Amino acid sequence: MSRSAHIAGPRYADVLHEGHYTAPPADLNVLDPRVWARTVTRNADGAATVGGLDVRALAEEFGTPAYFLDEADFRARCHAWRDAFGTGADVFYAGKAFLSRAVVRWLYEEGLNLDVCSAGELAVALSAGMPADRIALHGNNKSLAEIERAVEVGVGRIVLDSFQEIVRVAHVAERLGKRQRVQIRVTVGVEAHTHEFIATAHEDQKFGLALAGGQAAEAVRRVLKLEALELVGIHSHIGSQIFDMAGFEVAARRVVSLLAEVRDEHGVELPEIDLGGGLGIAYTSEDDPAEPHDIARALREIVTRECESSELGVPRLSVEPGRAIVGPTAFTLYEVGTVKPLEGLRTYVSVDGGMSDNIRTALYDAEYSVALVSRTSTAEPMLARVVGKHCESGDIVVKDAFLPADLAAGDLIAVPATGAYCRSMASNYNHALRPPVVAVNDGEARVIVRRETEDDLLRLDVG
Ligand code: LLP
Repeated sequence: MSRSAHIAGPRYADVLHEGHYTAPPADLNVLDPRVWARTVTRNADGAATVGGLDVRALAEEFGTPAYFLDEADFRARCHAWRDAFGTGADVFYAGKAFLSRAVVRWLYEEGLNLDVCSAGELAVALSAGMPADRIALHGNNKSLAEIERAVEVGVGRIVLDSFQEIVRVAHVAERLGKRQRVQIRVTVGVEAHTHEFIATAHEDQKFGLALAGGQAAEAVRRVLKLEALELVGIHSHIGSQIFDMAGFEVAARRVVSLLAEVRDEHGVELPEIDLGGGLGIAYTSEDDPAEPHDIARALREIVTRECESSELGVPRLSVEPGRAIVGPTAFTLYEVGTVKPLEGLRTYVSVDGGMSDNIRTALYDAEYSVALVSRTSTAEPMLARVVGKHCESGDIVVKDAFLPADLAAGDLIAVPATGAYCRSMASNYNHALRPPVVAVNDGEARVIVRRETEDDLLRLDVG
């Protein structure tokens, strides 16, 4: 088909206008290292490989759709964060981005700690042998059972999110005869430049205790009175997929000023501050995320400067990256089914997964890249929309992308940067079977989360 049939017409103009693309990429066969996992490349046949393994063979062995996770990349990113922050700080991987027992073992081996936000995540962490004192428990509405389990096993810290929770955690700790280390989560009043649903530090939302109006200071007062709680620090998380360091700077400044207030009022210097996660990754070639070393340097400088100006000792810093570690390490492999050109608009490419394995496009209008990976092609680029097989028109995986015009049923395409918040937010909508996660490392592939089966679905259906 001719180029103009695919990329001319009013909708192409809209795409240009919205600024998603200035033009089709010069060569659709190039796998931009900015968005693909570290070991992804093409072999002499033109097929993509990860960890040295051909995606066609991987599809054959593990089926599609499937997530393939580059273990070497994951470990390298853990190492880079650990190294950037050094021994004077702690890196807590945010398990909500993606958690499995293999991941917990990698984190343990690479010297990272773990942030969990539910009993389920805590259970996975403990069952894979993460020492409890390297785990932090989060959540804006922790159940009593979650609190009990966490205190019982001795998690390193519980991040308190409300006045009610202060009382609940103290009661549980008292009953179990323990003193629980806690931090207080504060909302610093920053409007993070990200999607509304993943911004968490402005005041009108459910997380934390506001600095403005004195809620956070009141929480400190209450916690300090309770024998069963050891207040070790203040926590702030401003949002997710953020590129601009300015929000972190404001957050750090405001958290340190609370530490100074606490010192003035109570004569206590709290030893820790946690600035949360939220660093953005590249989903398309236009995104340009910061490196862990630059982030660490910037955060350390801000905290040190602010502490000096308040004459405070510099507290131990911690951060909680989730997406920035696991996001870039995986891609989702799909088989192309229906290819439907809509003249003057775009070509709809249907794959064998969809919003059940990647809800982010539907939920946040997220942008993704996509490439034909089972072969190369010299065909003209066509403007495509990659859609799933679910029963709704919002079932979009990649909204605007260029794919070669000779794309056909049976081709394999892959969407990079799906390591974070894809498998962990996957659903069984339309009774879809959630795809497996396959770890690939140095010529070997192994399933770390297996594909669901119809038996799994039927086991839950006990009616
Ligand atoms: N710490 C806390 C307290 C958090 O709430 C989060 C994310 C993180 C750390 C890790 O943030 P990250 O480094 O991964 O940005 N489902 C959304 C993201 C929700 C993030 C929730 N909290 C998405 O798919 O974009």
